[in-house]
Amino acid sequence: MELMGTGFAIRGWKLGDEVSLQKHADNPKVSACLMDRFPSPYTIQDAIFWVNNLVGQDPLVNFAITINEEVAGGIGLEPRQDVYRKTAILGYWLREELWGRGMMTEAVKLLTGYAFTQLGFIRIQASVYSKNPASMRVLEKAGYQKEGVLRNAVIKNEVVMDEHIYAVLK
Ligand SMILES: CC(C)(COP(=O)(O)OP(=O)(O)OC[C@H]1O[C@@H](n2cnc3c(N)ncnc32)[C@H](O)[C@@H]1OP(=O)(O)O)[C@@H](O)C(=O)NCCC(=O)NCCS
Repeated sequence: MELMGTGFAIRGWKLGDEVSLQKHADNPKVSACLMDRFPSPYTIQDAIFWVNNLVGQDPLVNFAITINEEVAGGIGLEPRQDVYRKTAILGYWLREELWGRGMMTEAVKLLTGYAFTQLGFIRIQASVYSKNPASMRVLEKAGYQKEGVLRNAVIKNEVVMDEHIYAVLK
């Protein structure tokens, strides 16, 4: 599976991605608005663990964003369970040097379309912390709507923030 964007691709993780993954993921500005399970600092061992875990993933829901086969970011869907199983939670990050060019907006649009047409989801949801207006803008540009704000739901780097819930329906 490969989705082609303008100058980038979205594809499953492959052995060999570890070095470029570590290089670009190891940035406190990248991890600042992600869950603590995204390591910071991001070591080569973290990258090896991530890639090894995901090679051959079925169904494929975690993807590398690549430029000329080098990892430039990541985007993924976490399927919810039980009565929520038709919903997936979207997450994404991009290497800092590429911010502000519309890349993630295009990636979110591509993956959302794929999730609806190929993976059977009927709702894609995303959580954005209050100090991340760029990510809110990405979701809005990709057709997501803000459905609510969970006040003081998040603590990241010892700062308490609200969680903004966005979603798009099939
Ligand atoms: C959030 C992130 C994915 C955005 O990627 P990107 O490719 O730069 O996004 P785009 O260029 O498609 O769109 C960014 C939009 O946010 C806007 N923006 C950037 N900083 C902003 C700010 N401080 N306040 C308001 N809007 C802002 C940009 O102007 C742009 O909107 P526009 O096209 O209307 O001008 C990227 O910054 C990133 O990887 N951050 C770290 C990880 C992260 O936060 N992931 C999301 C977790 S919910």
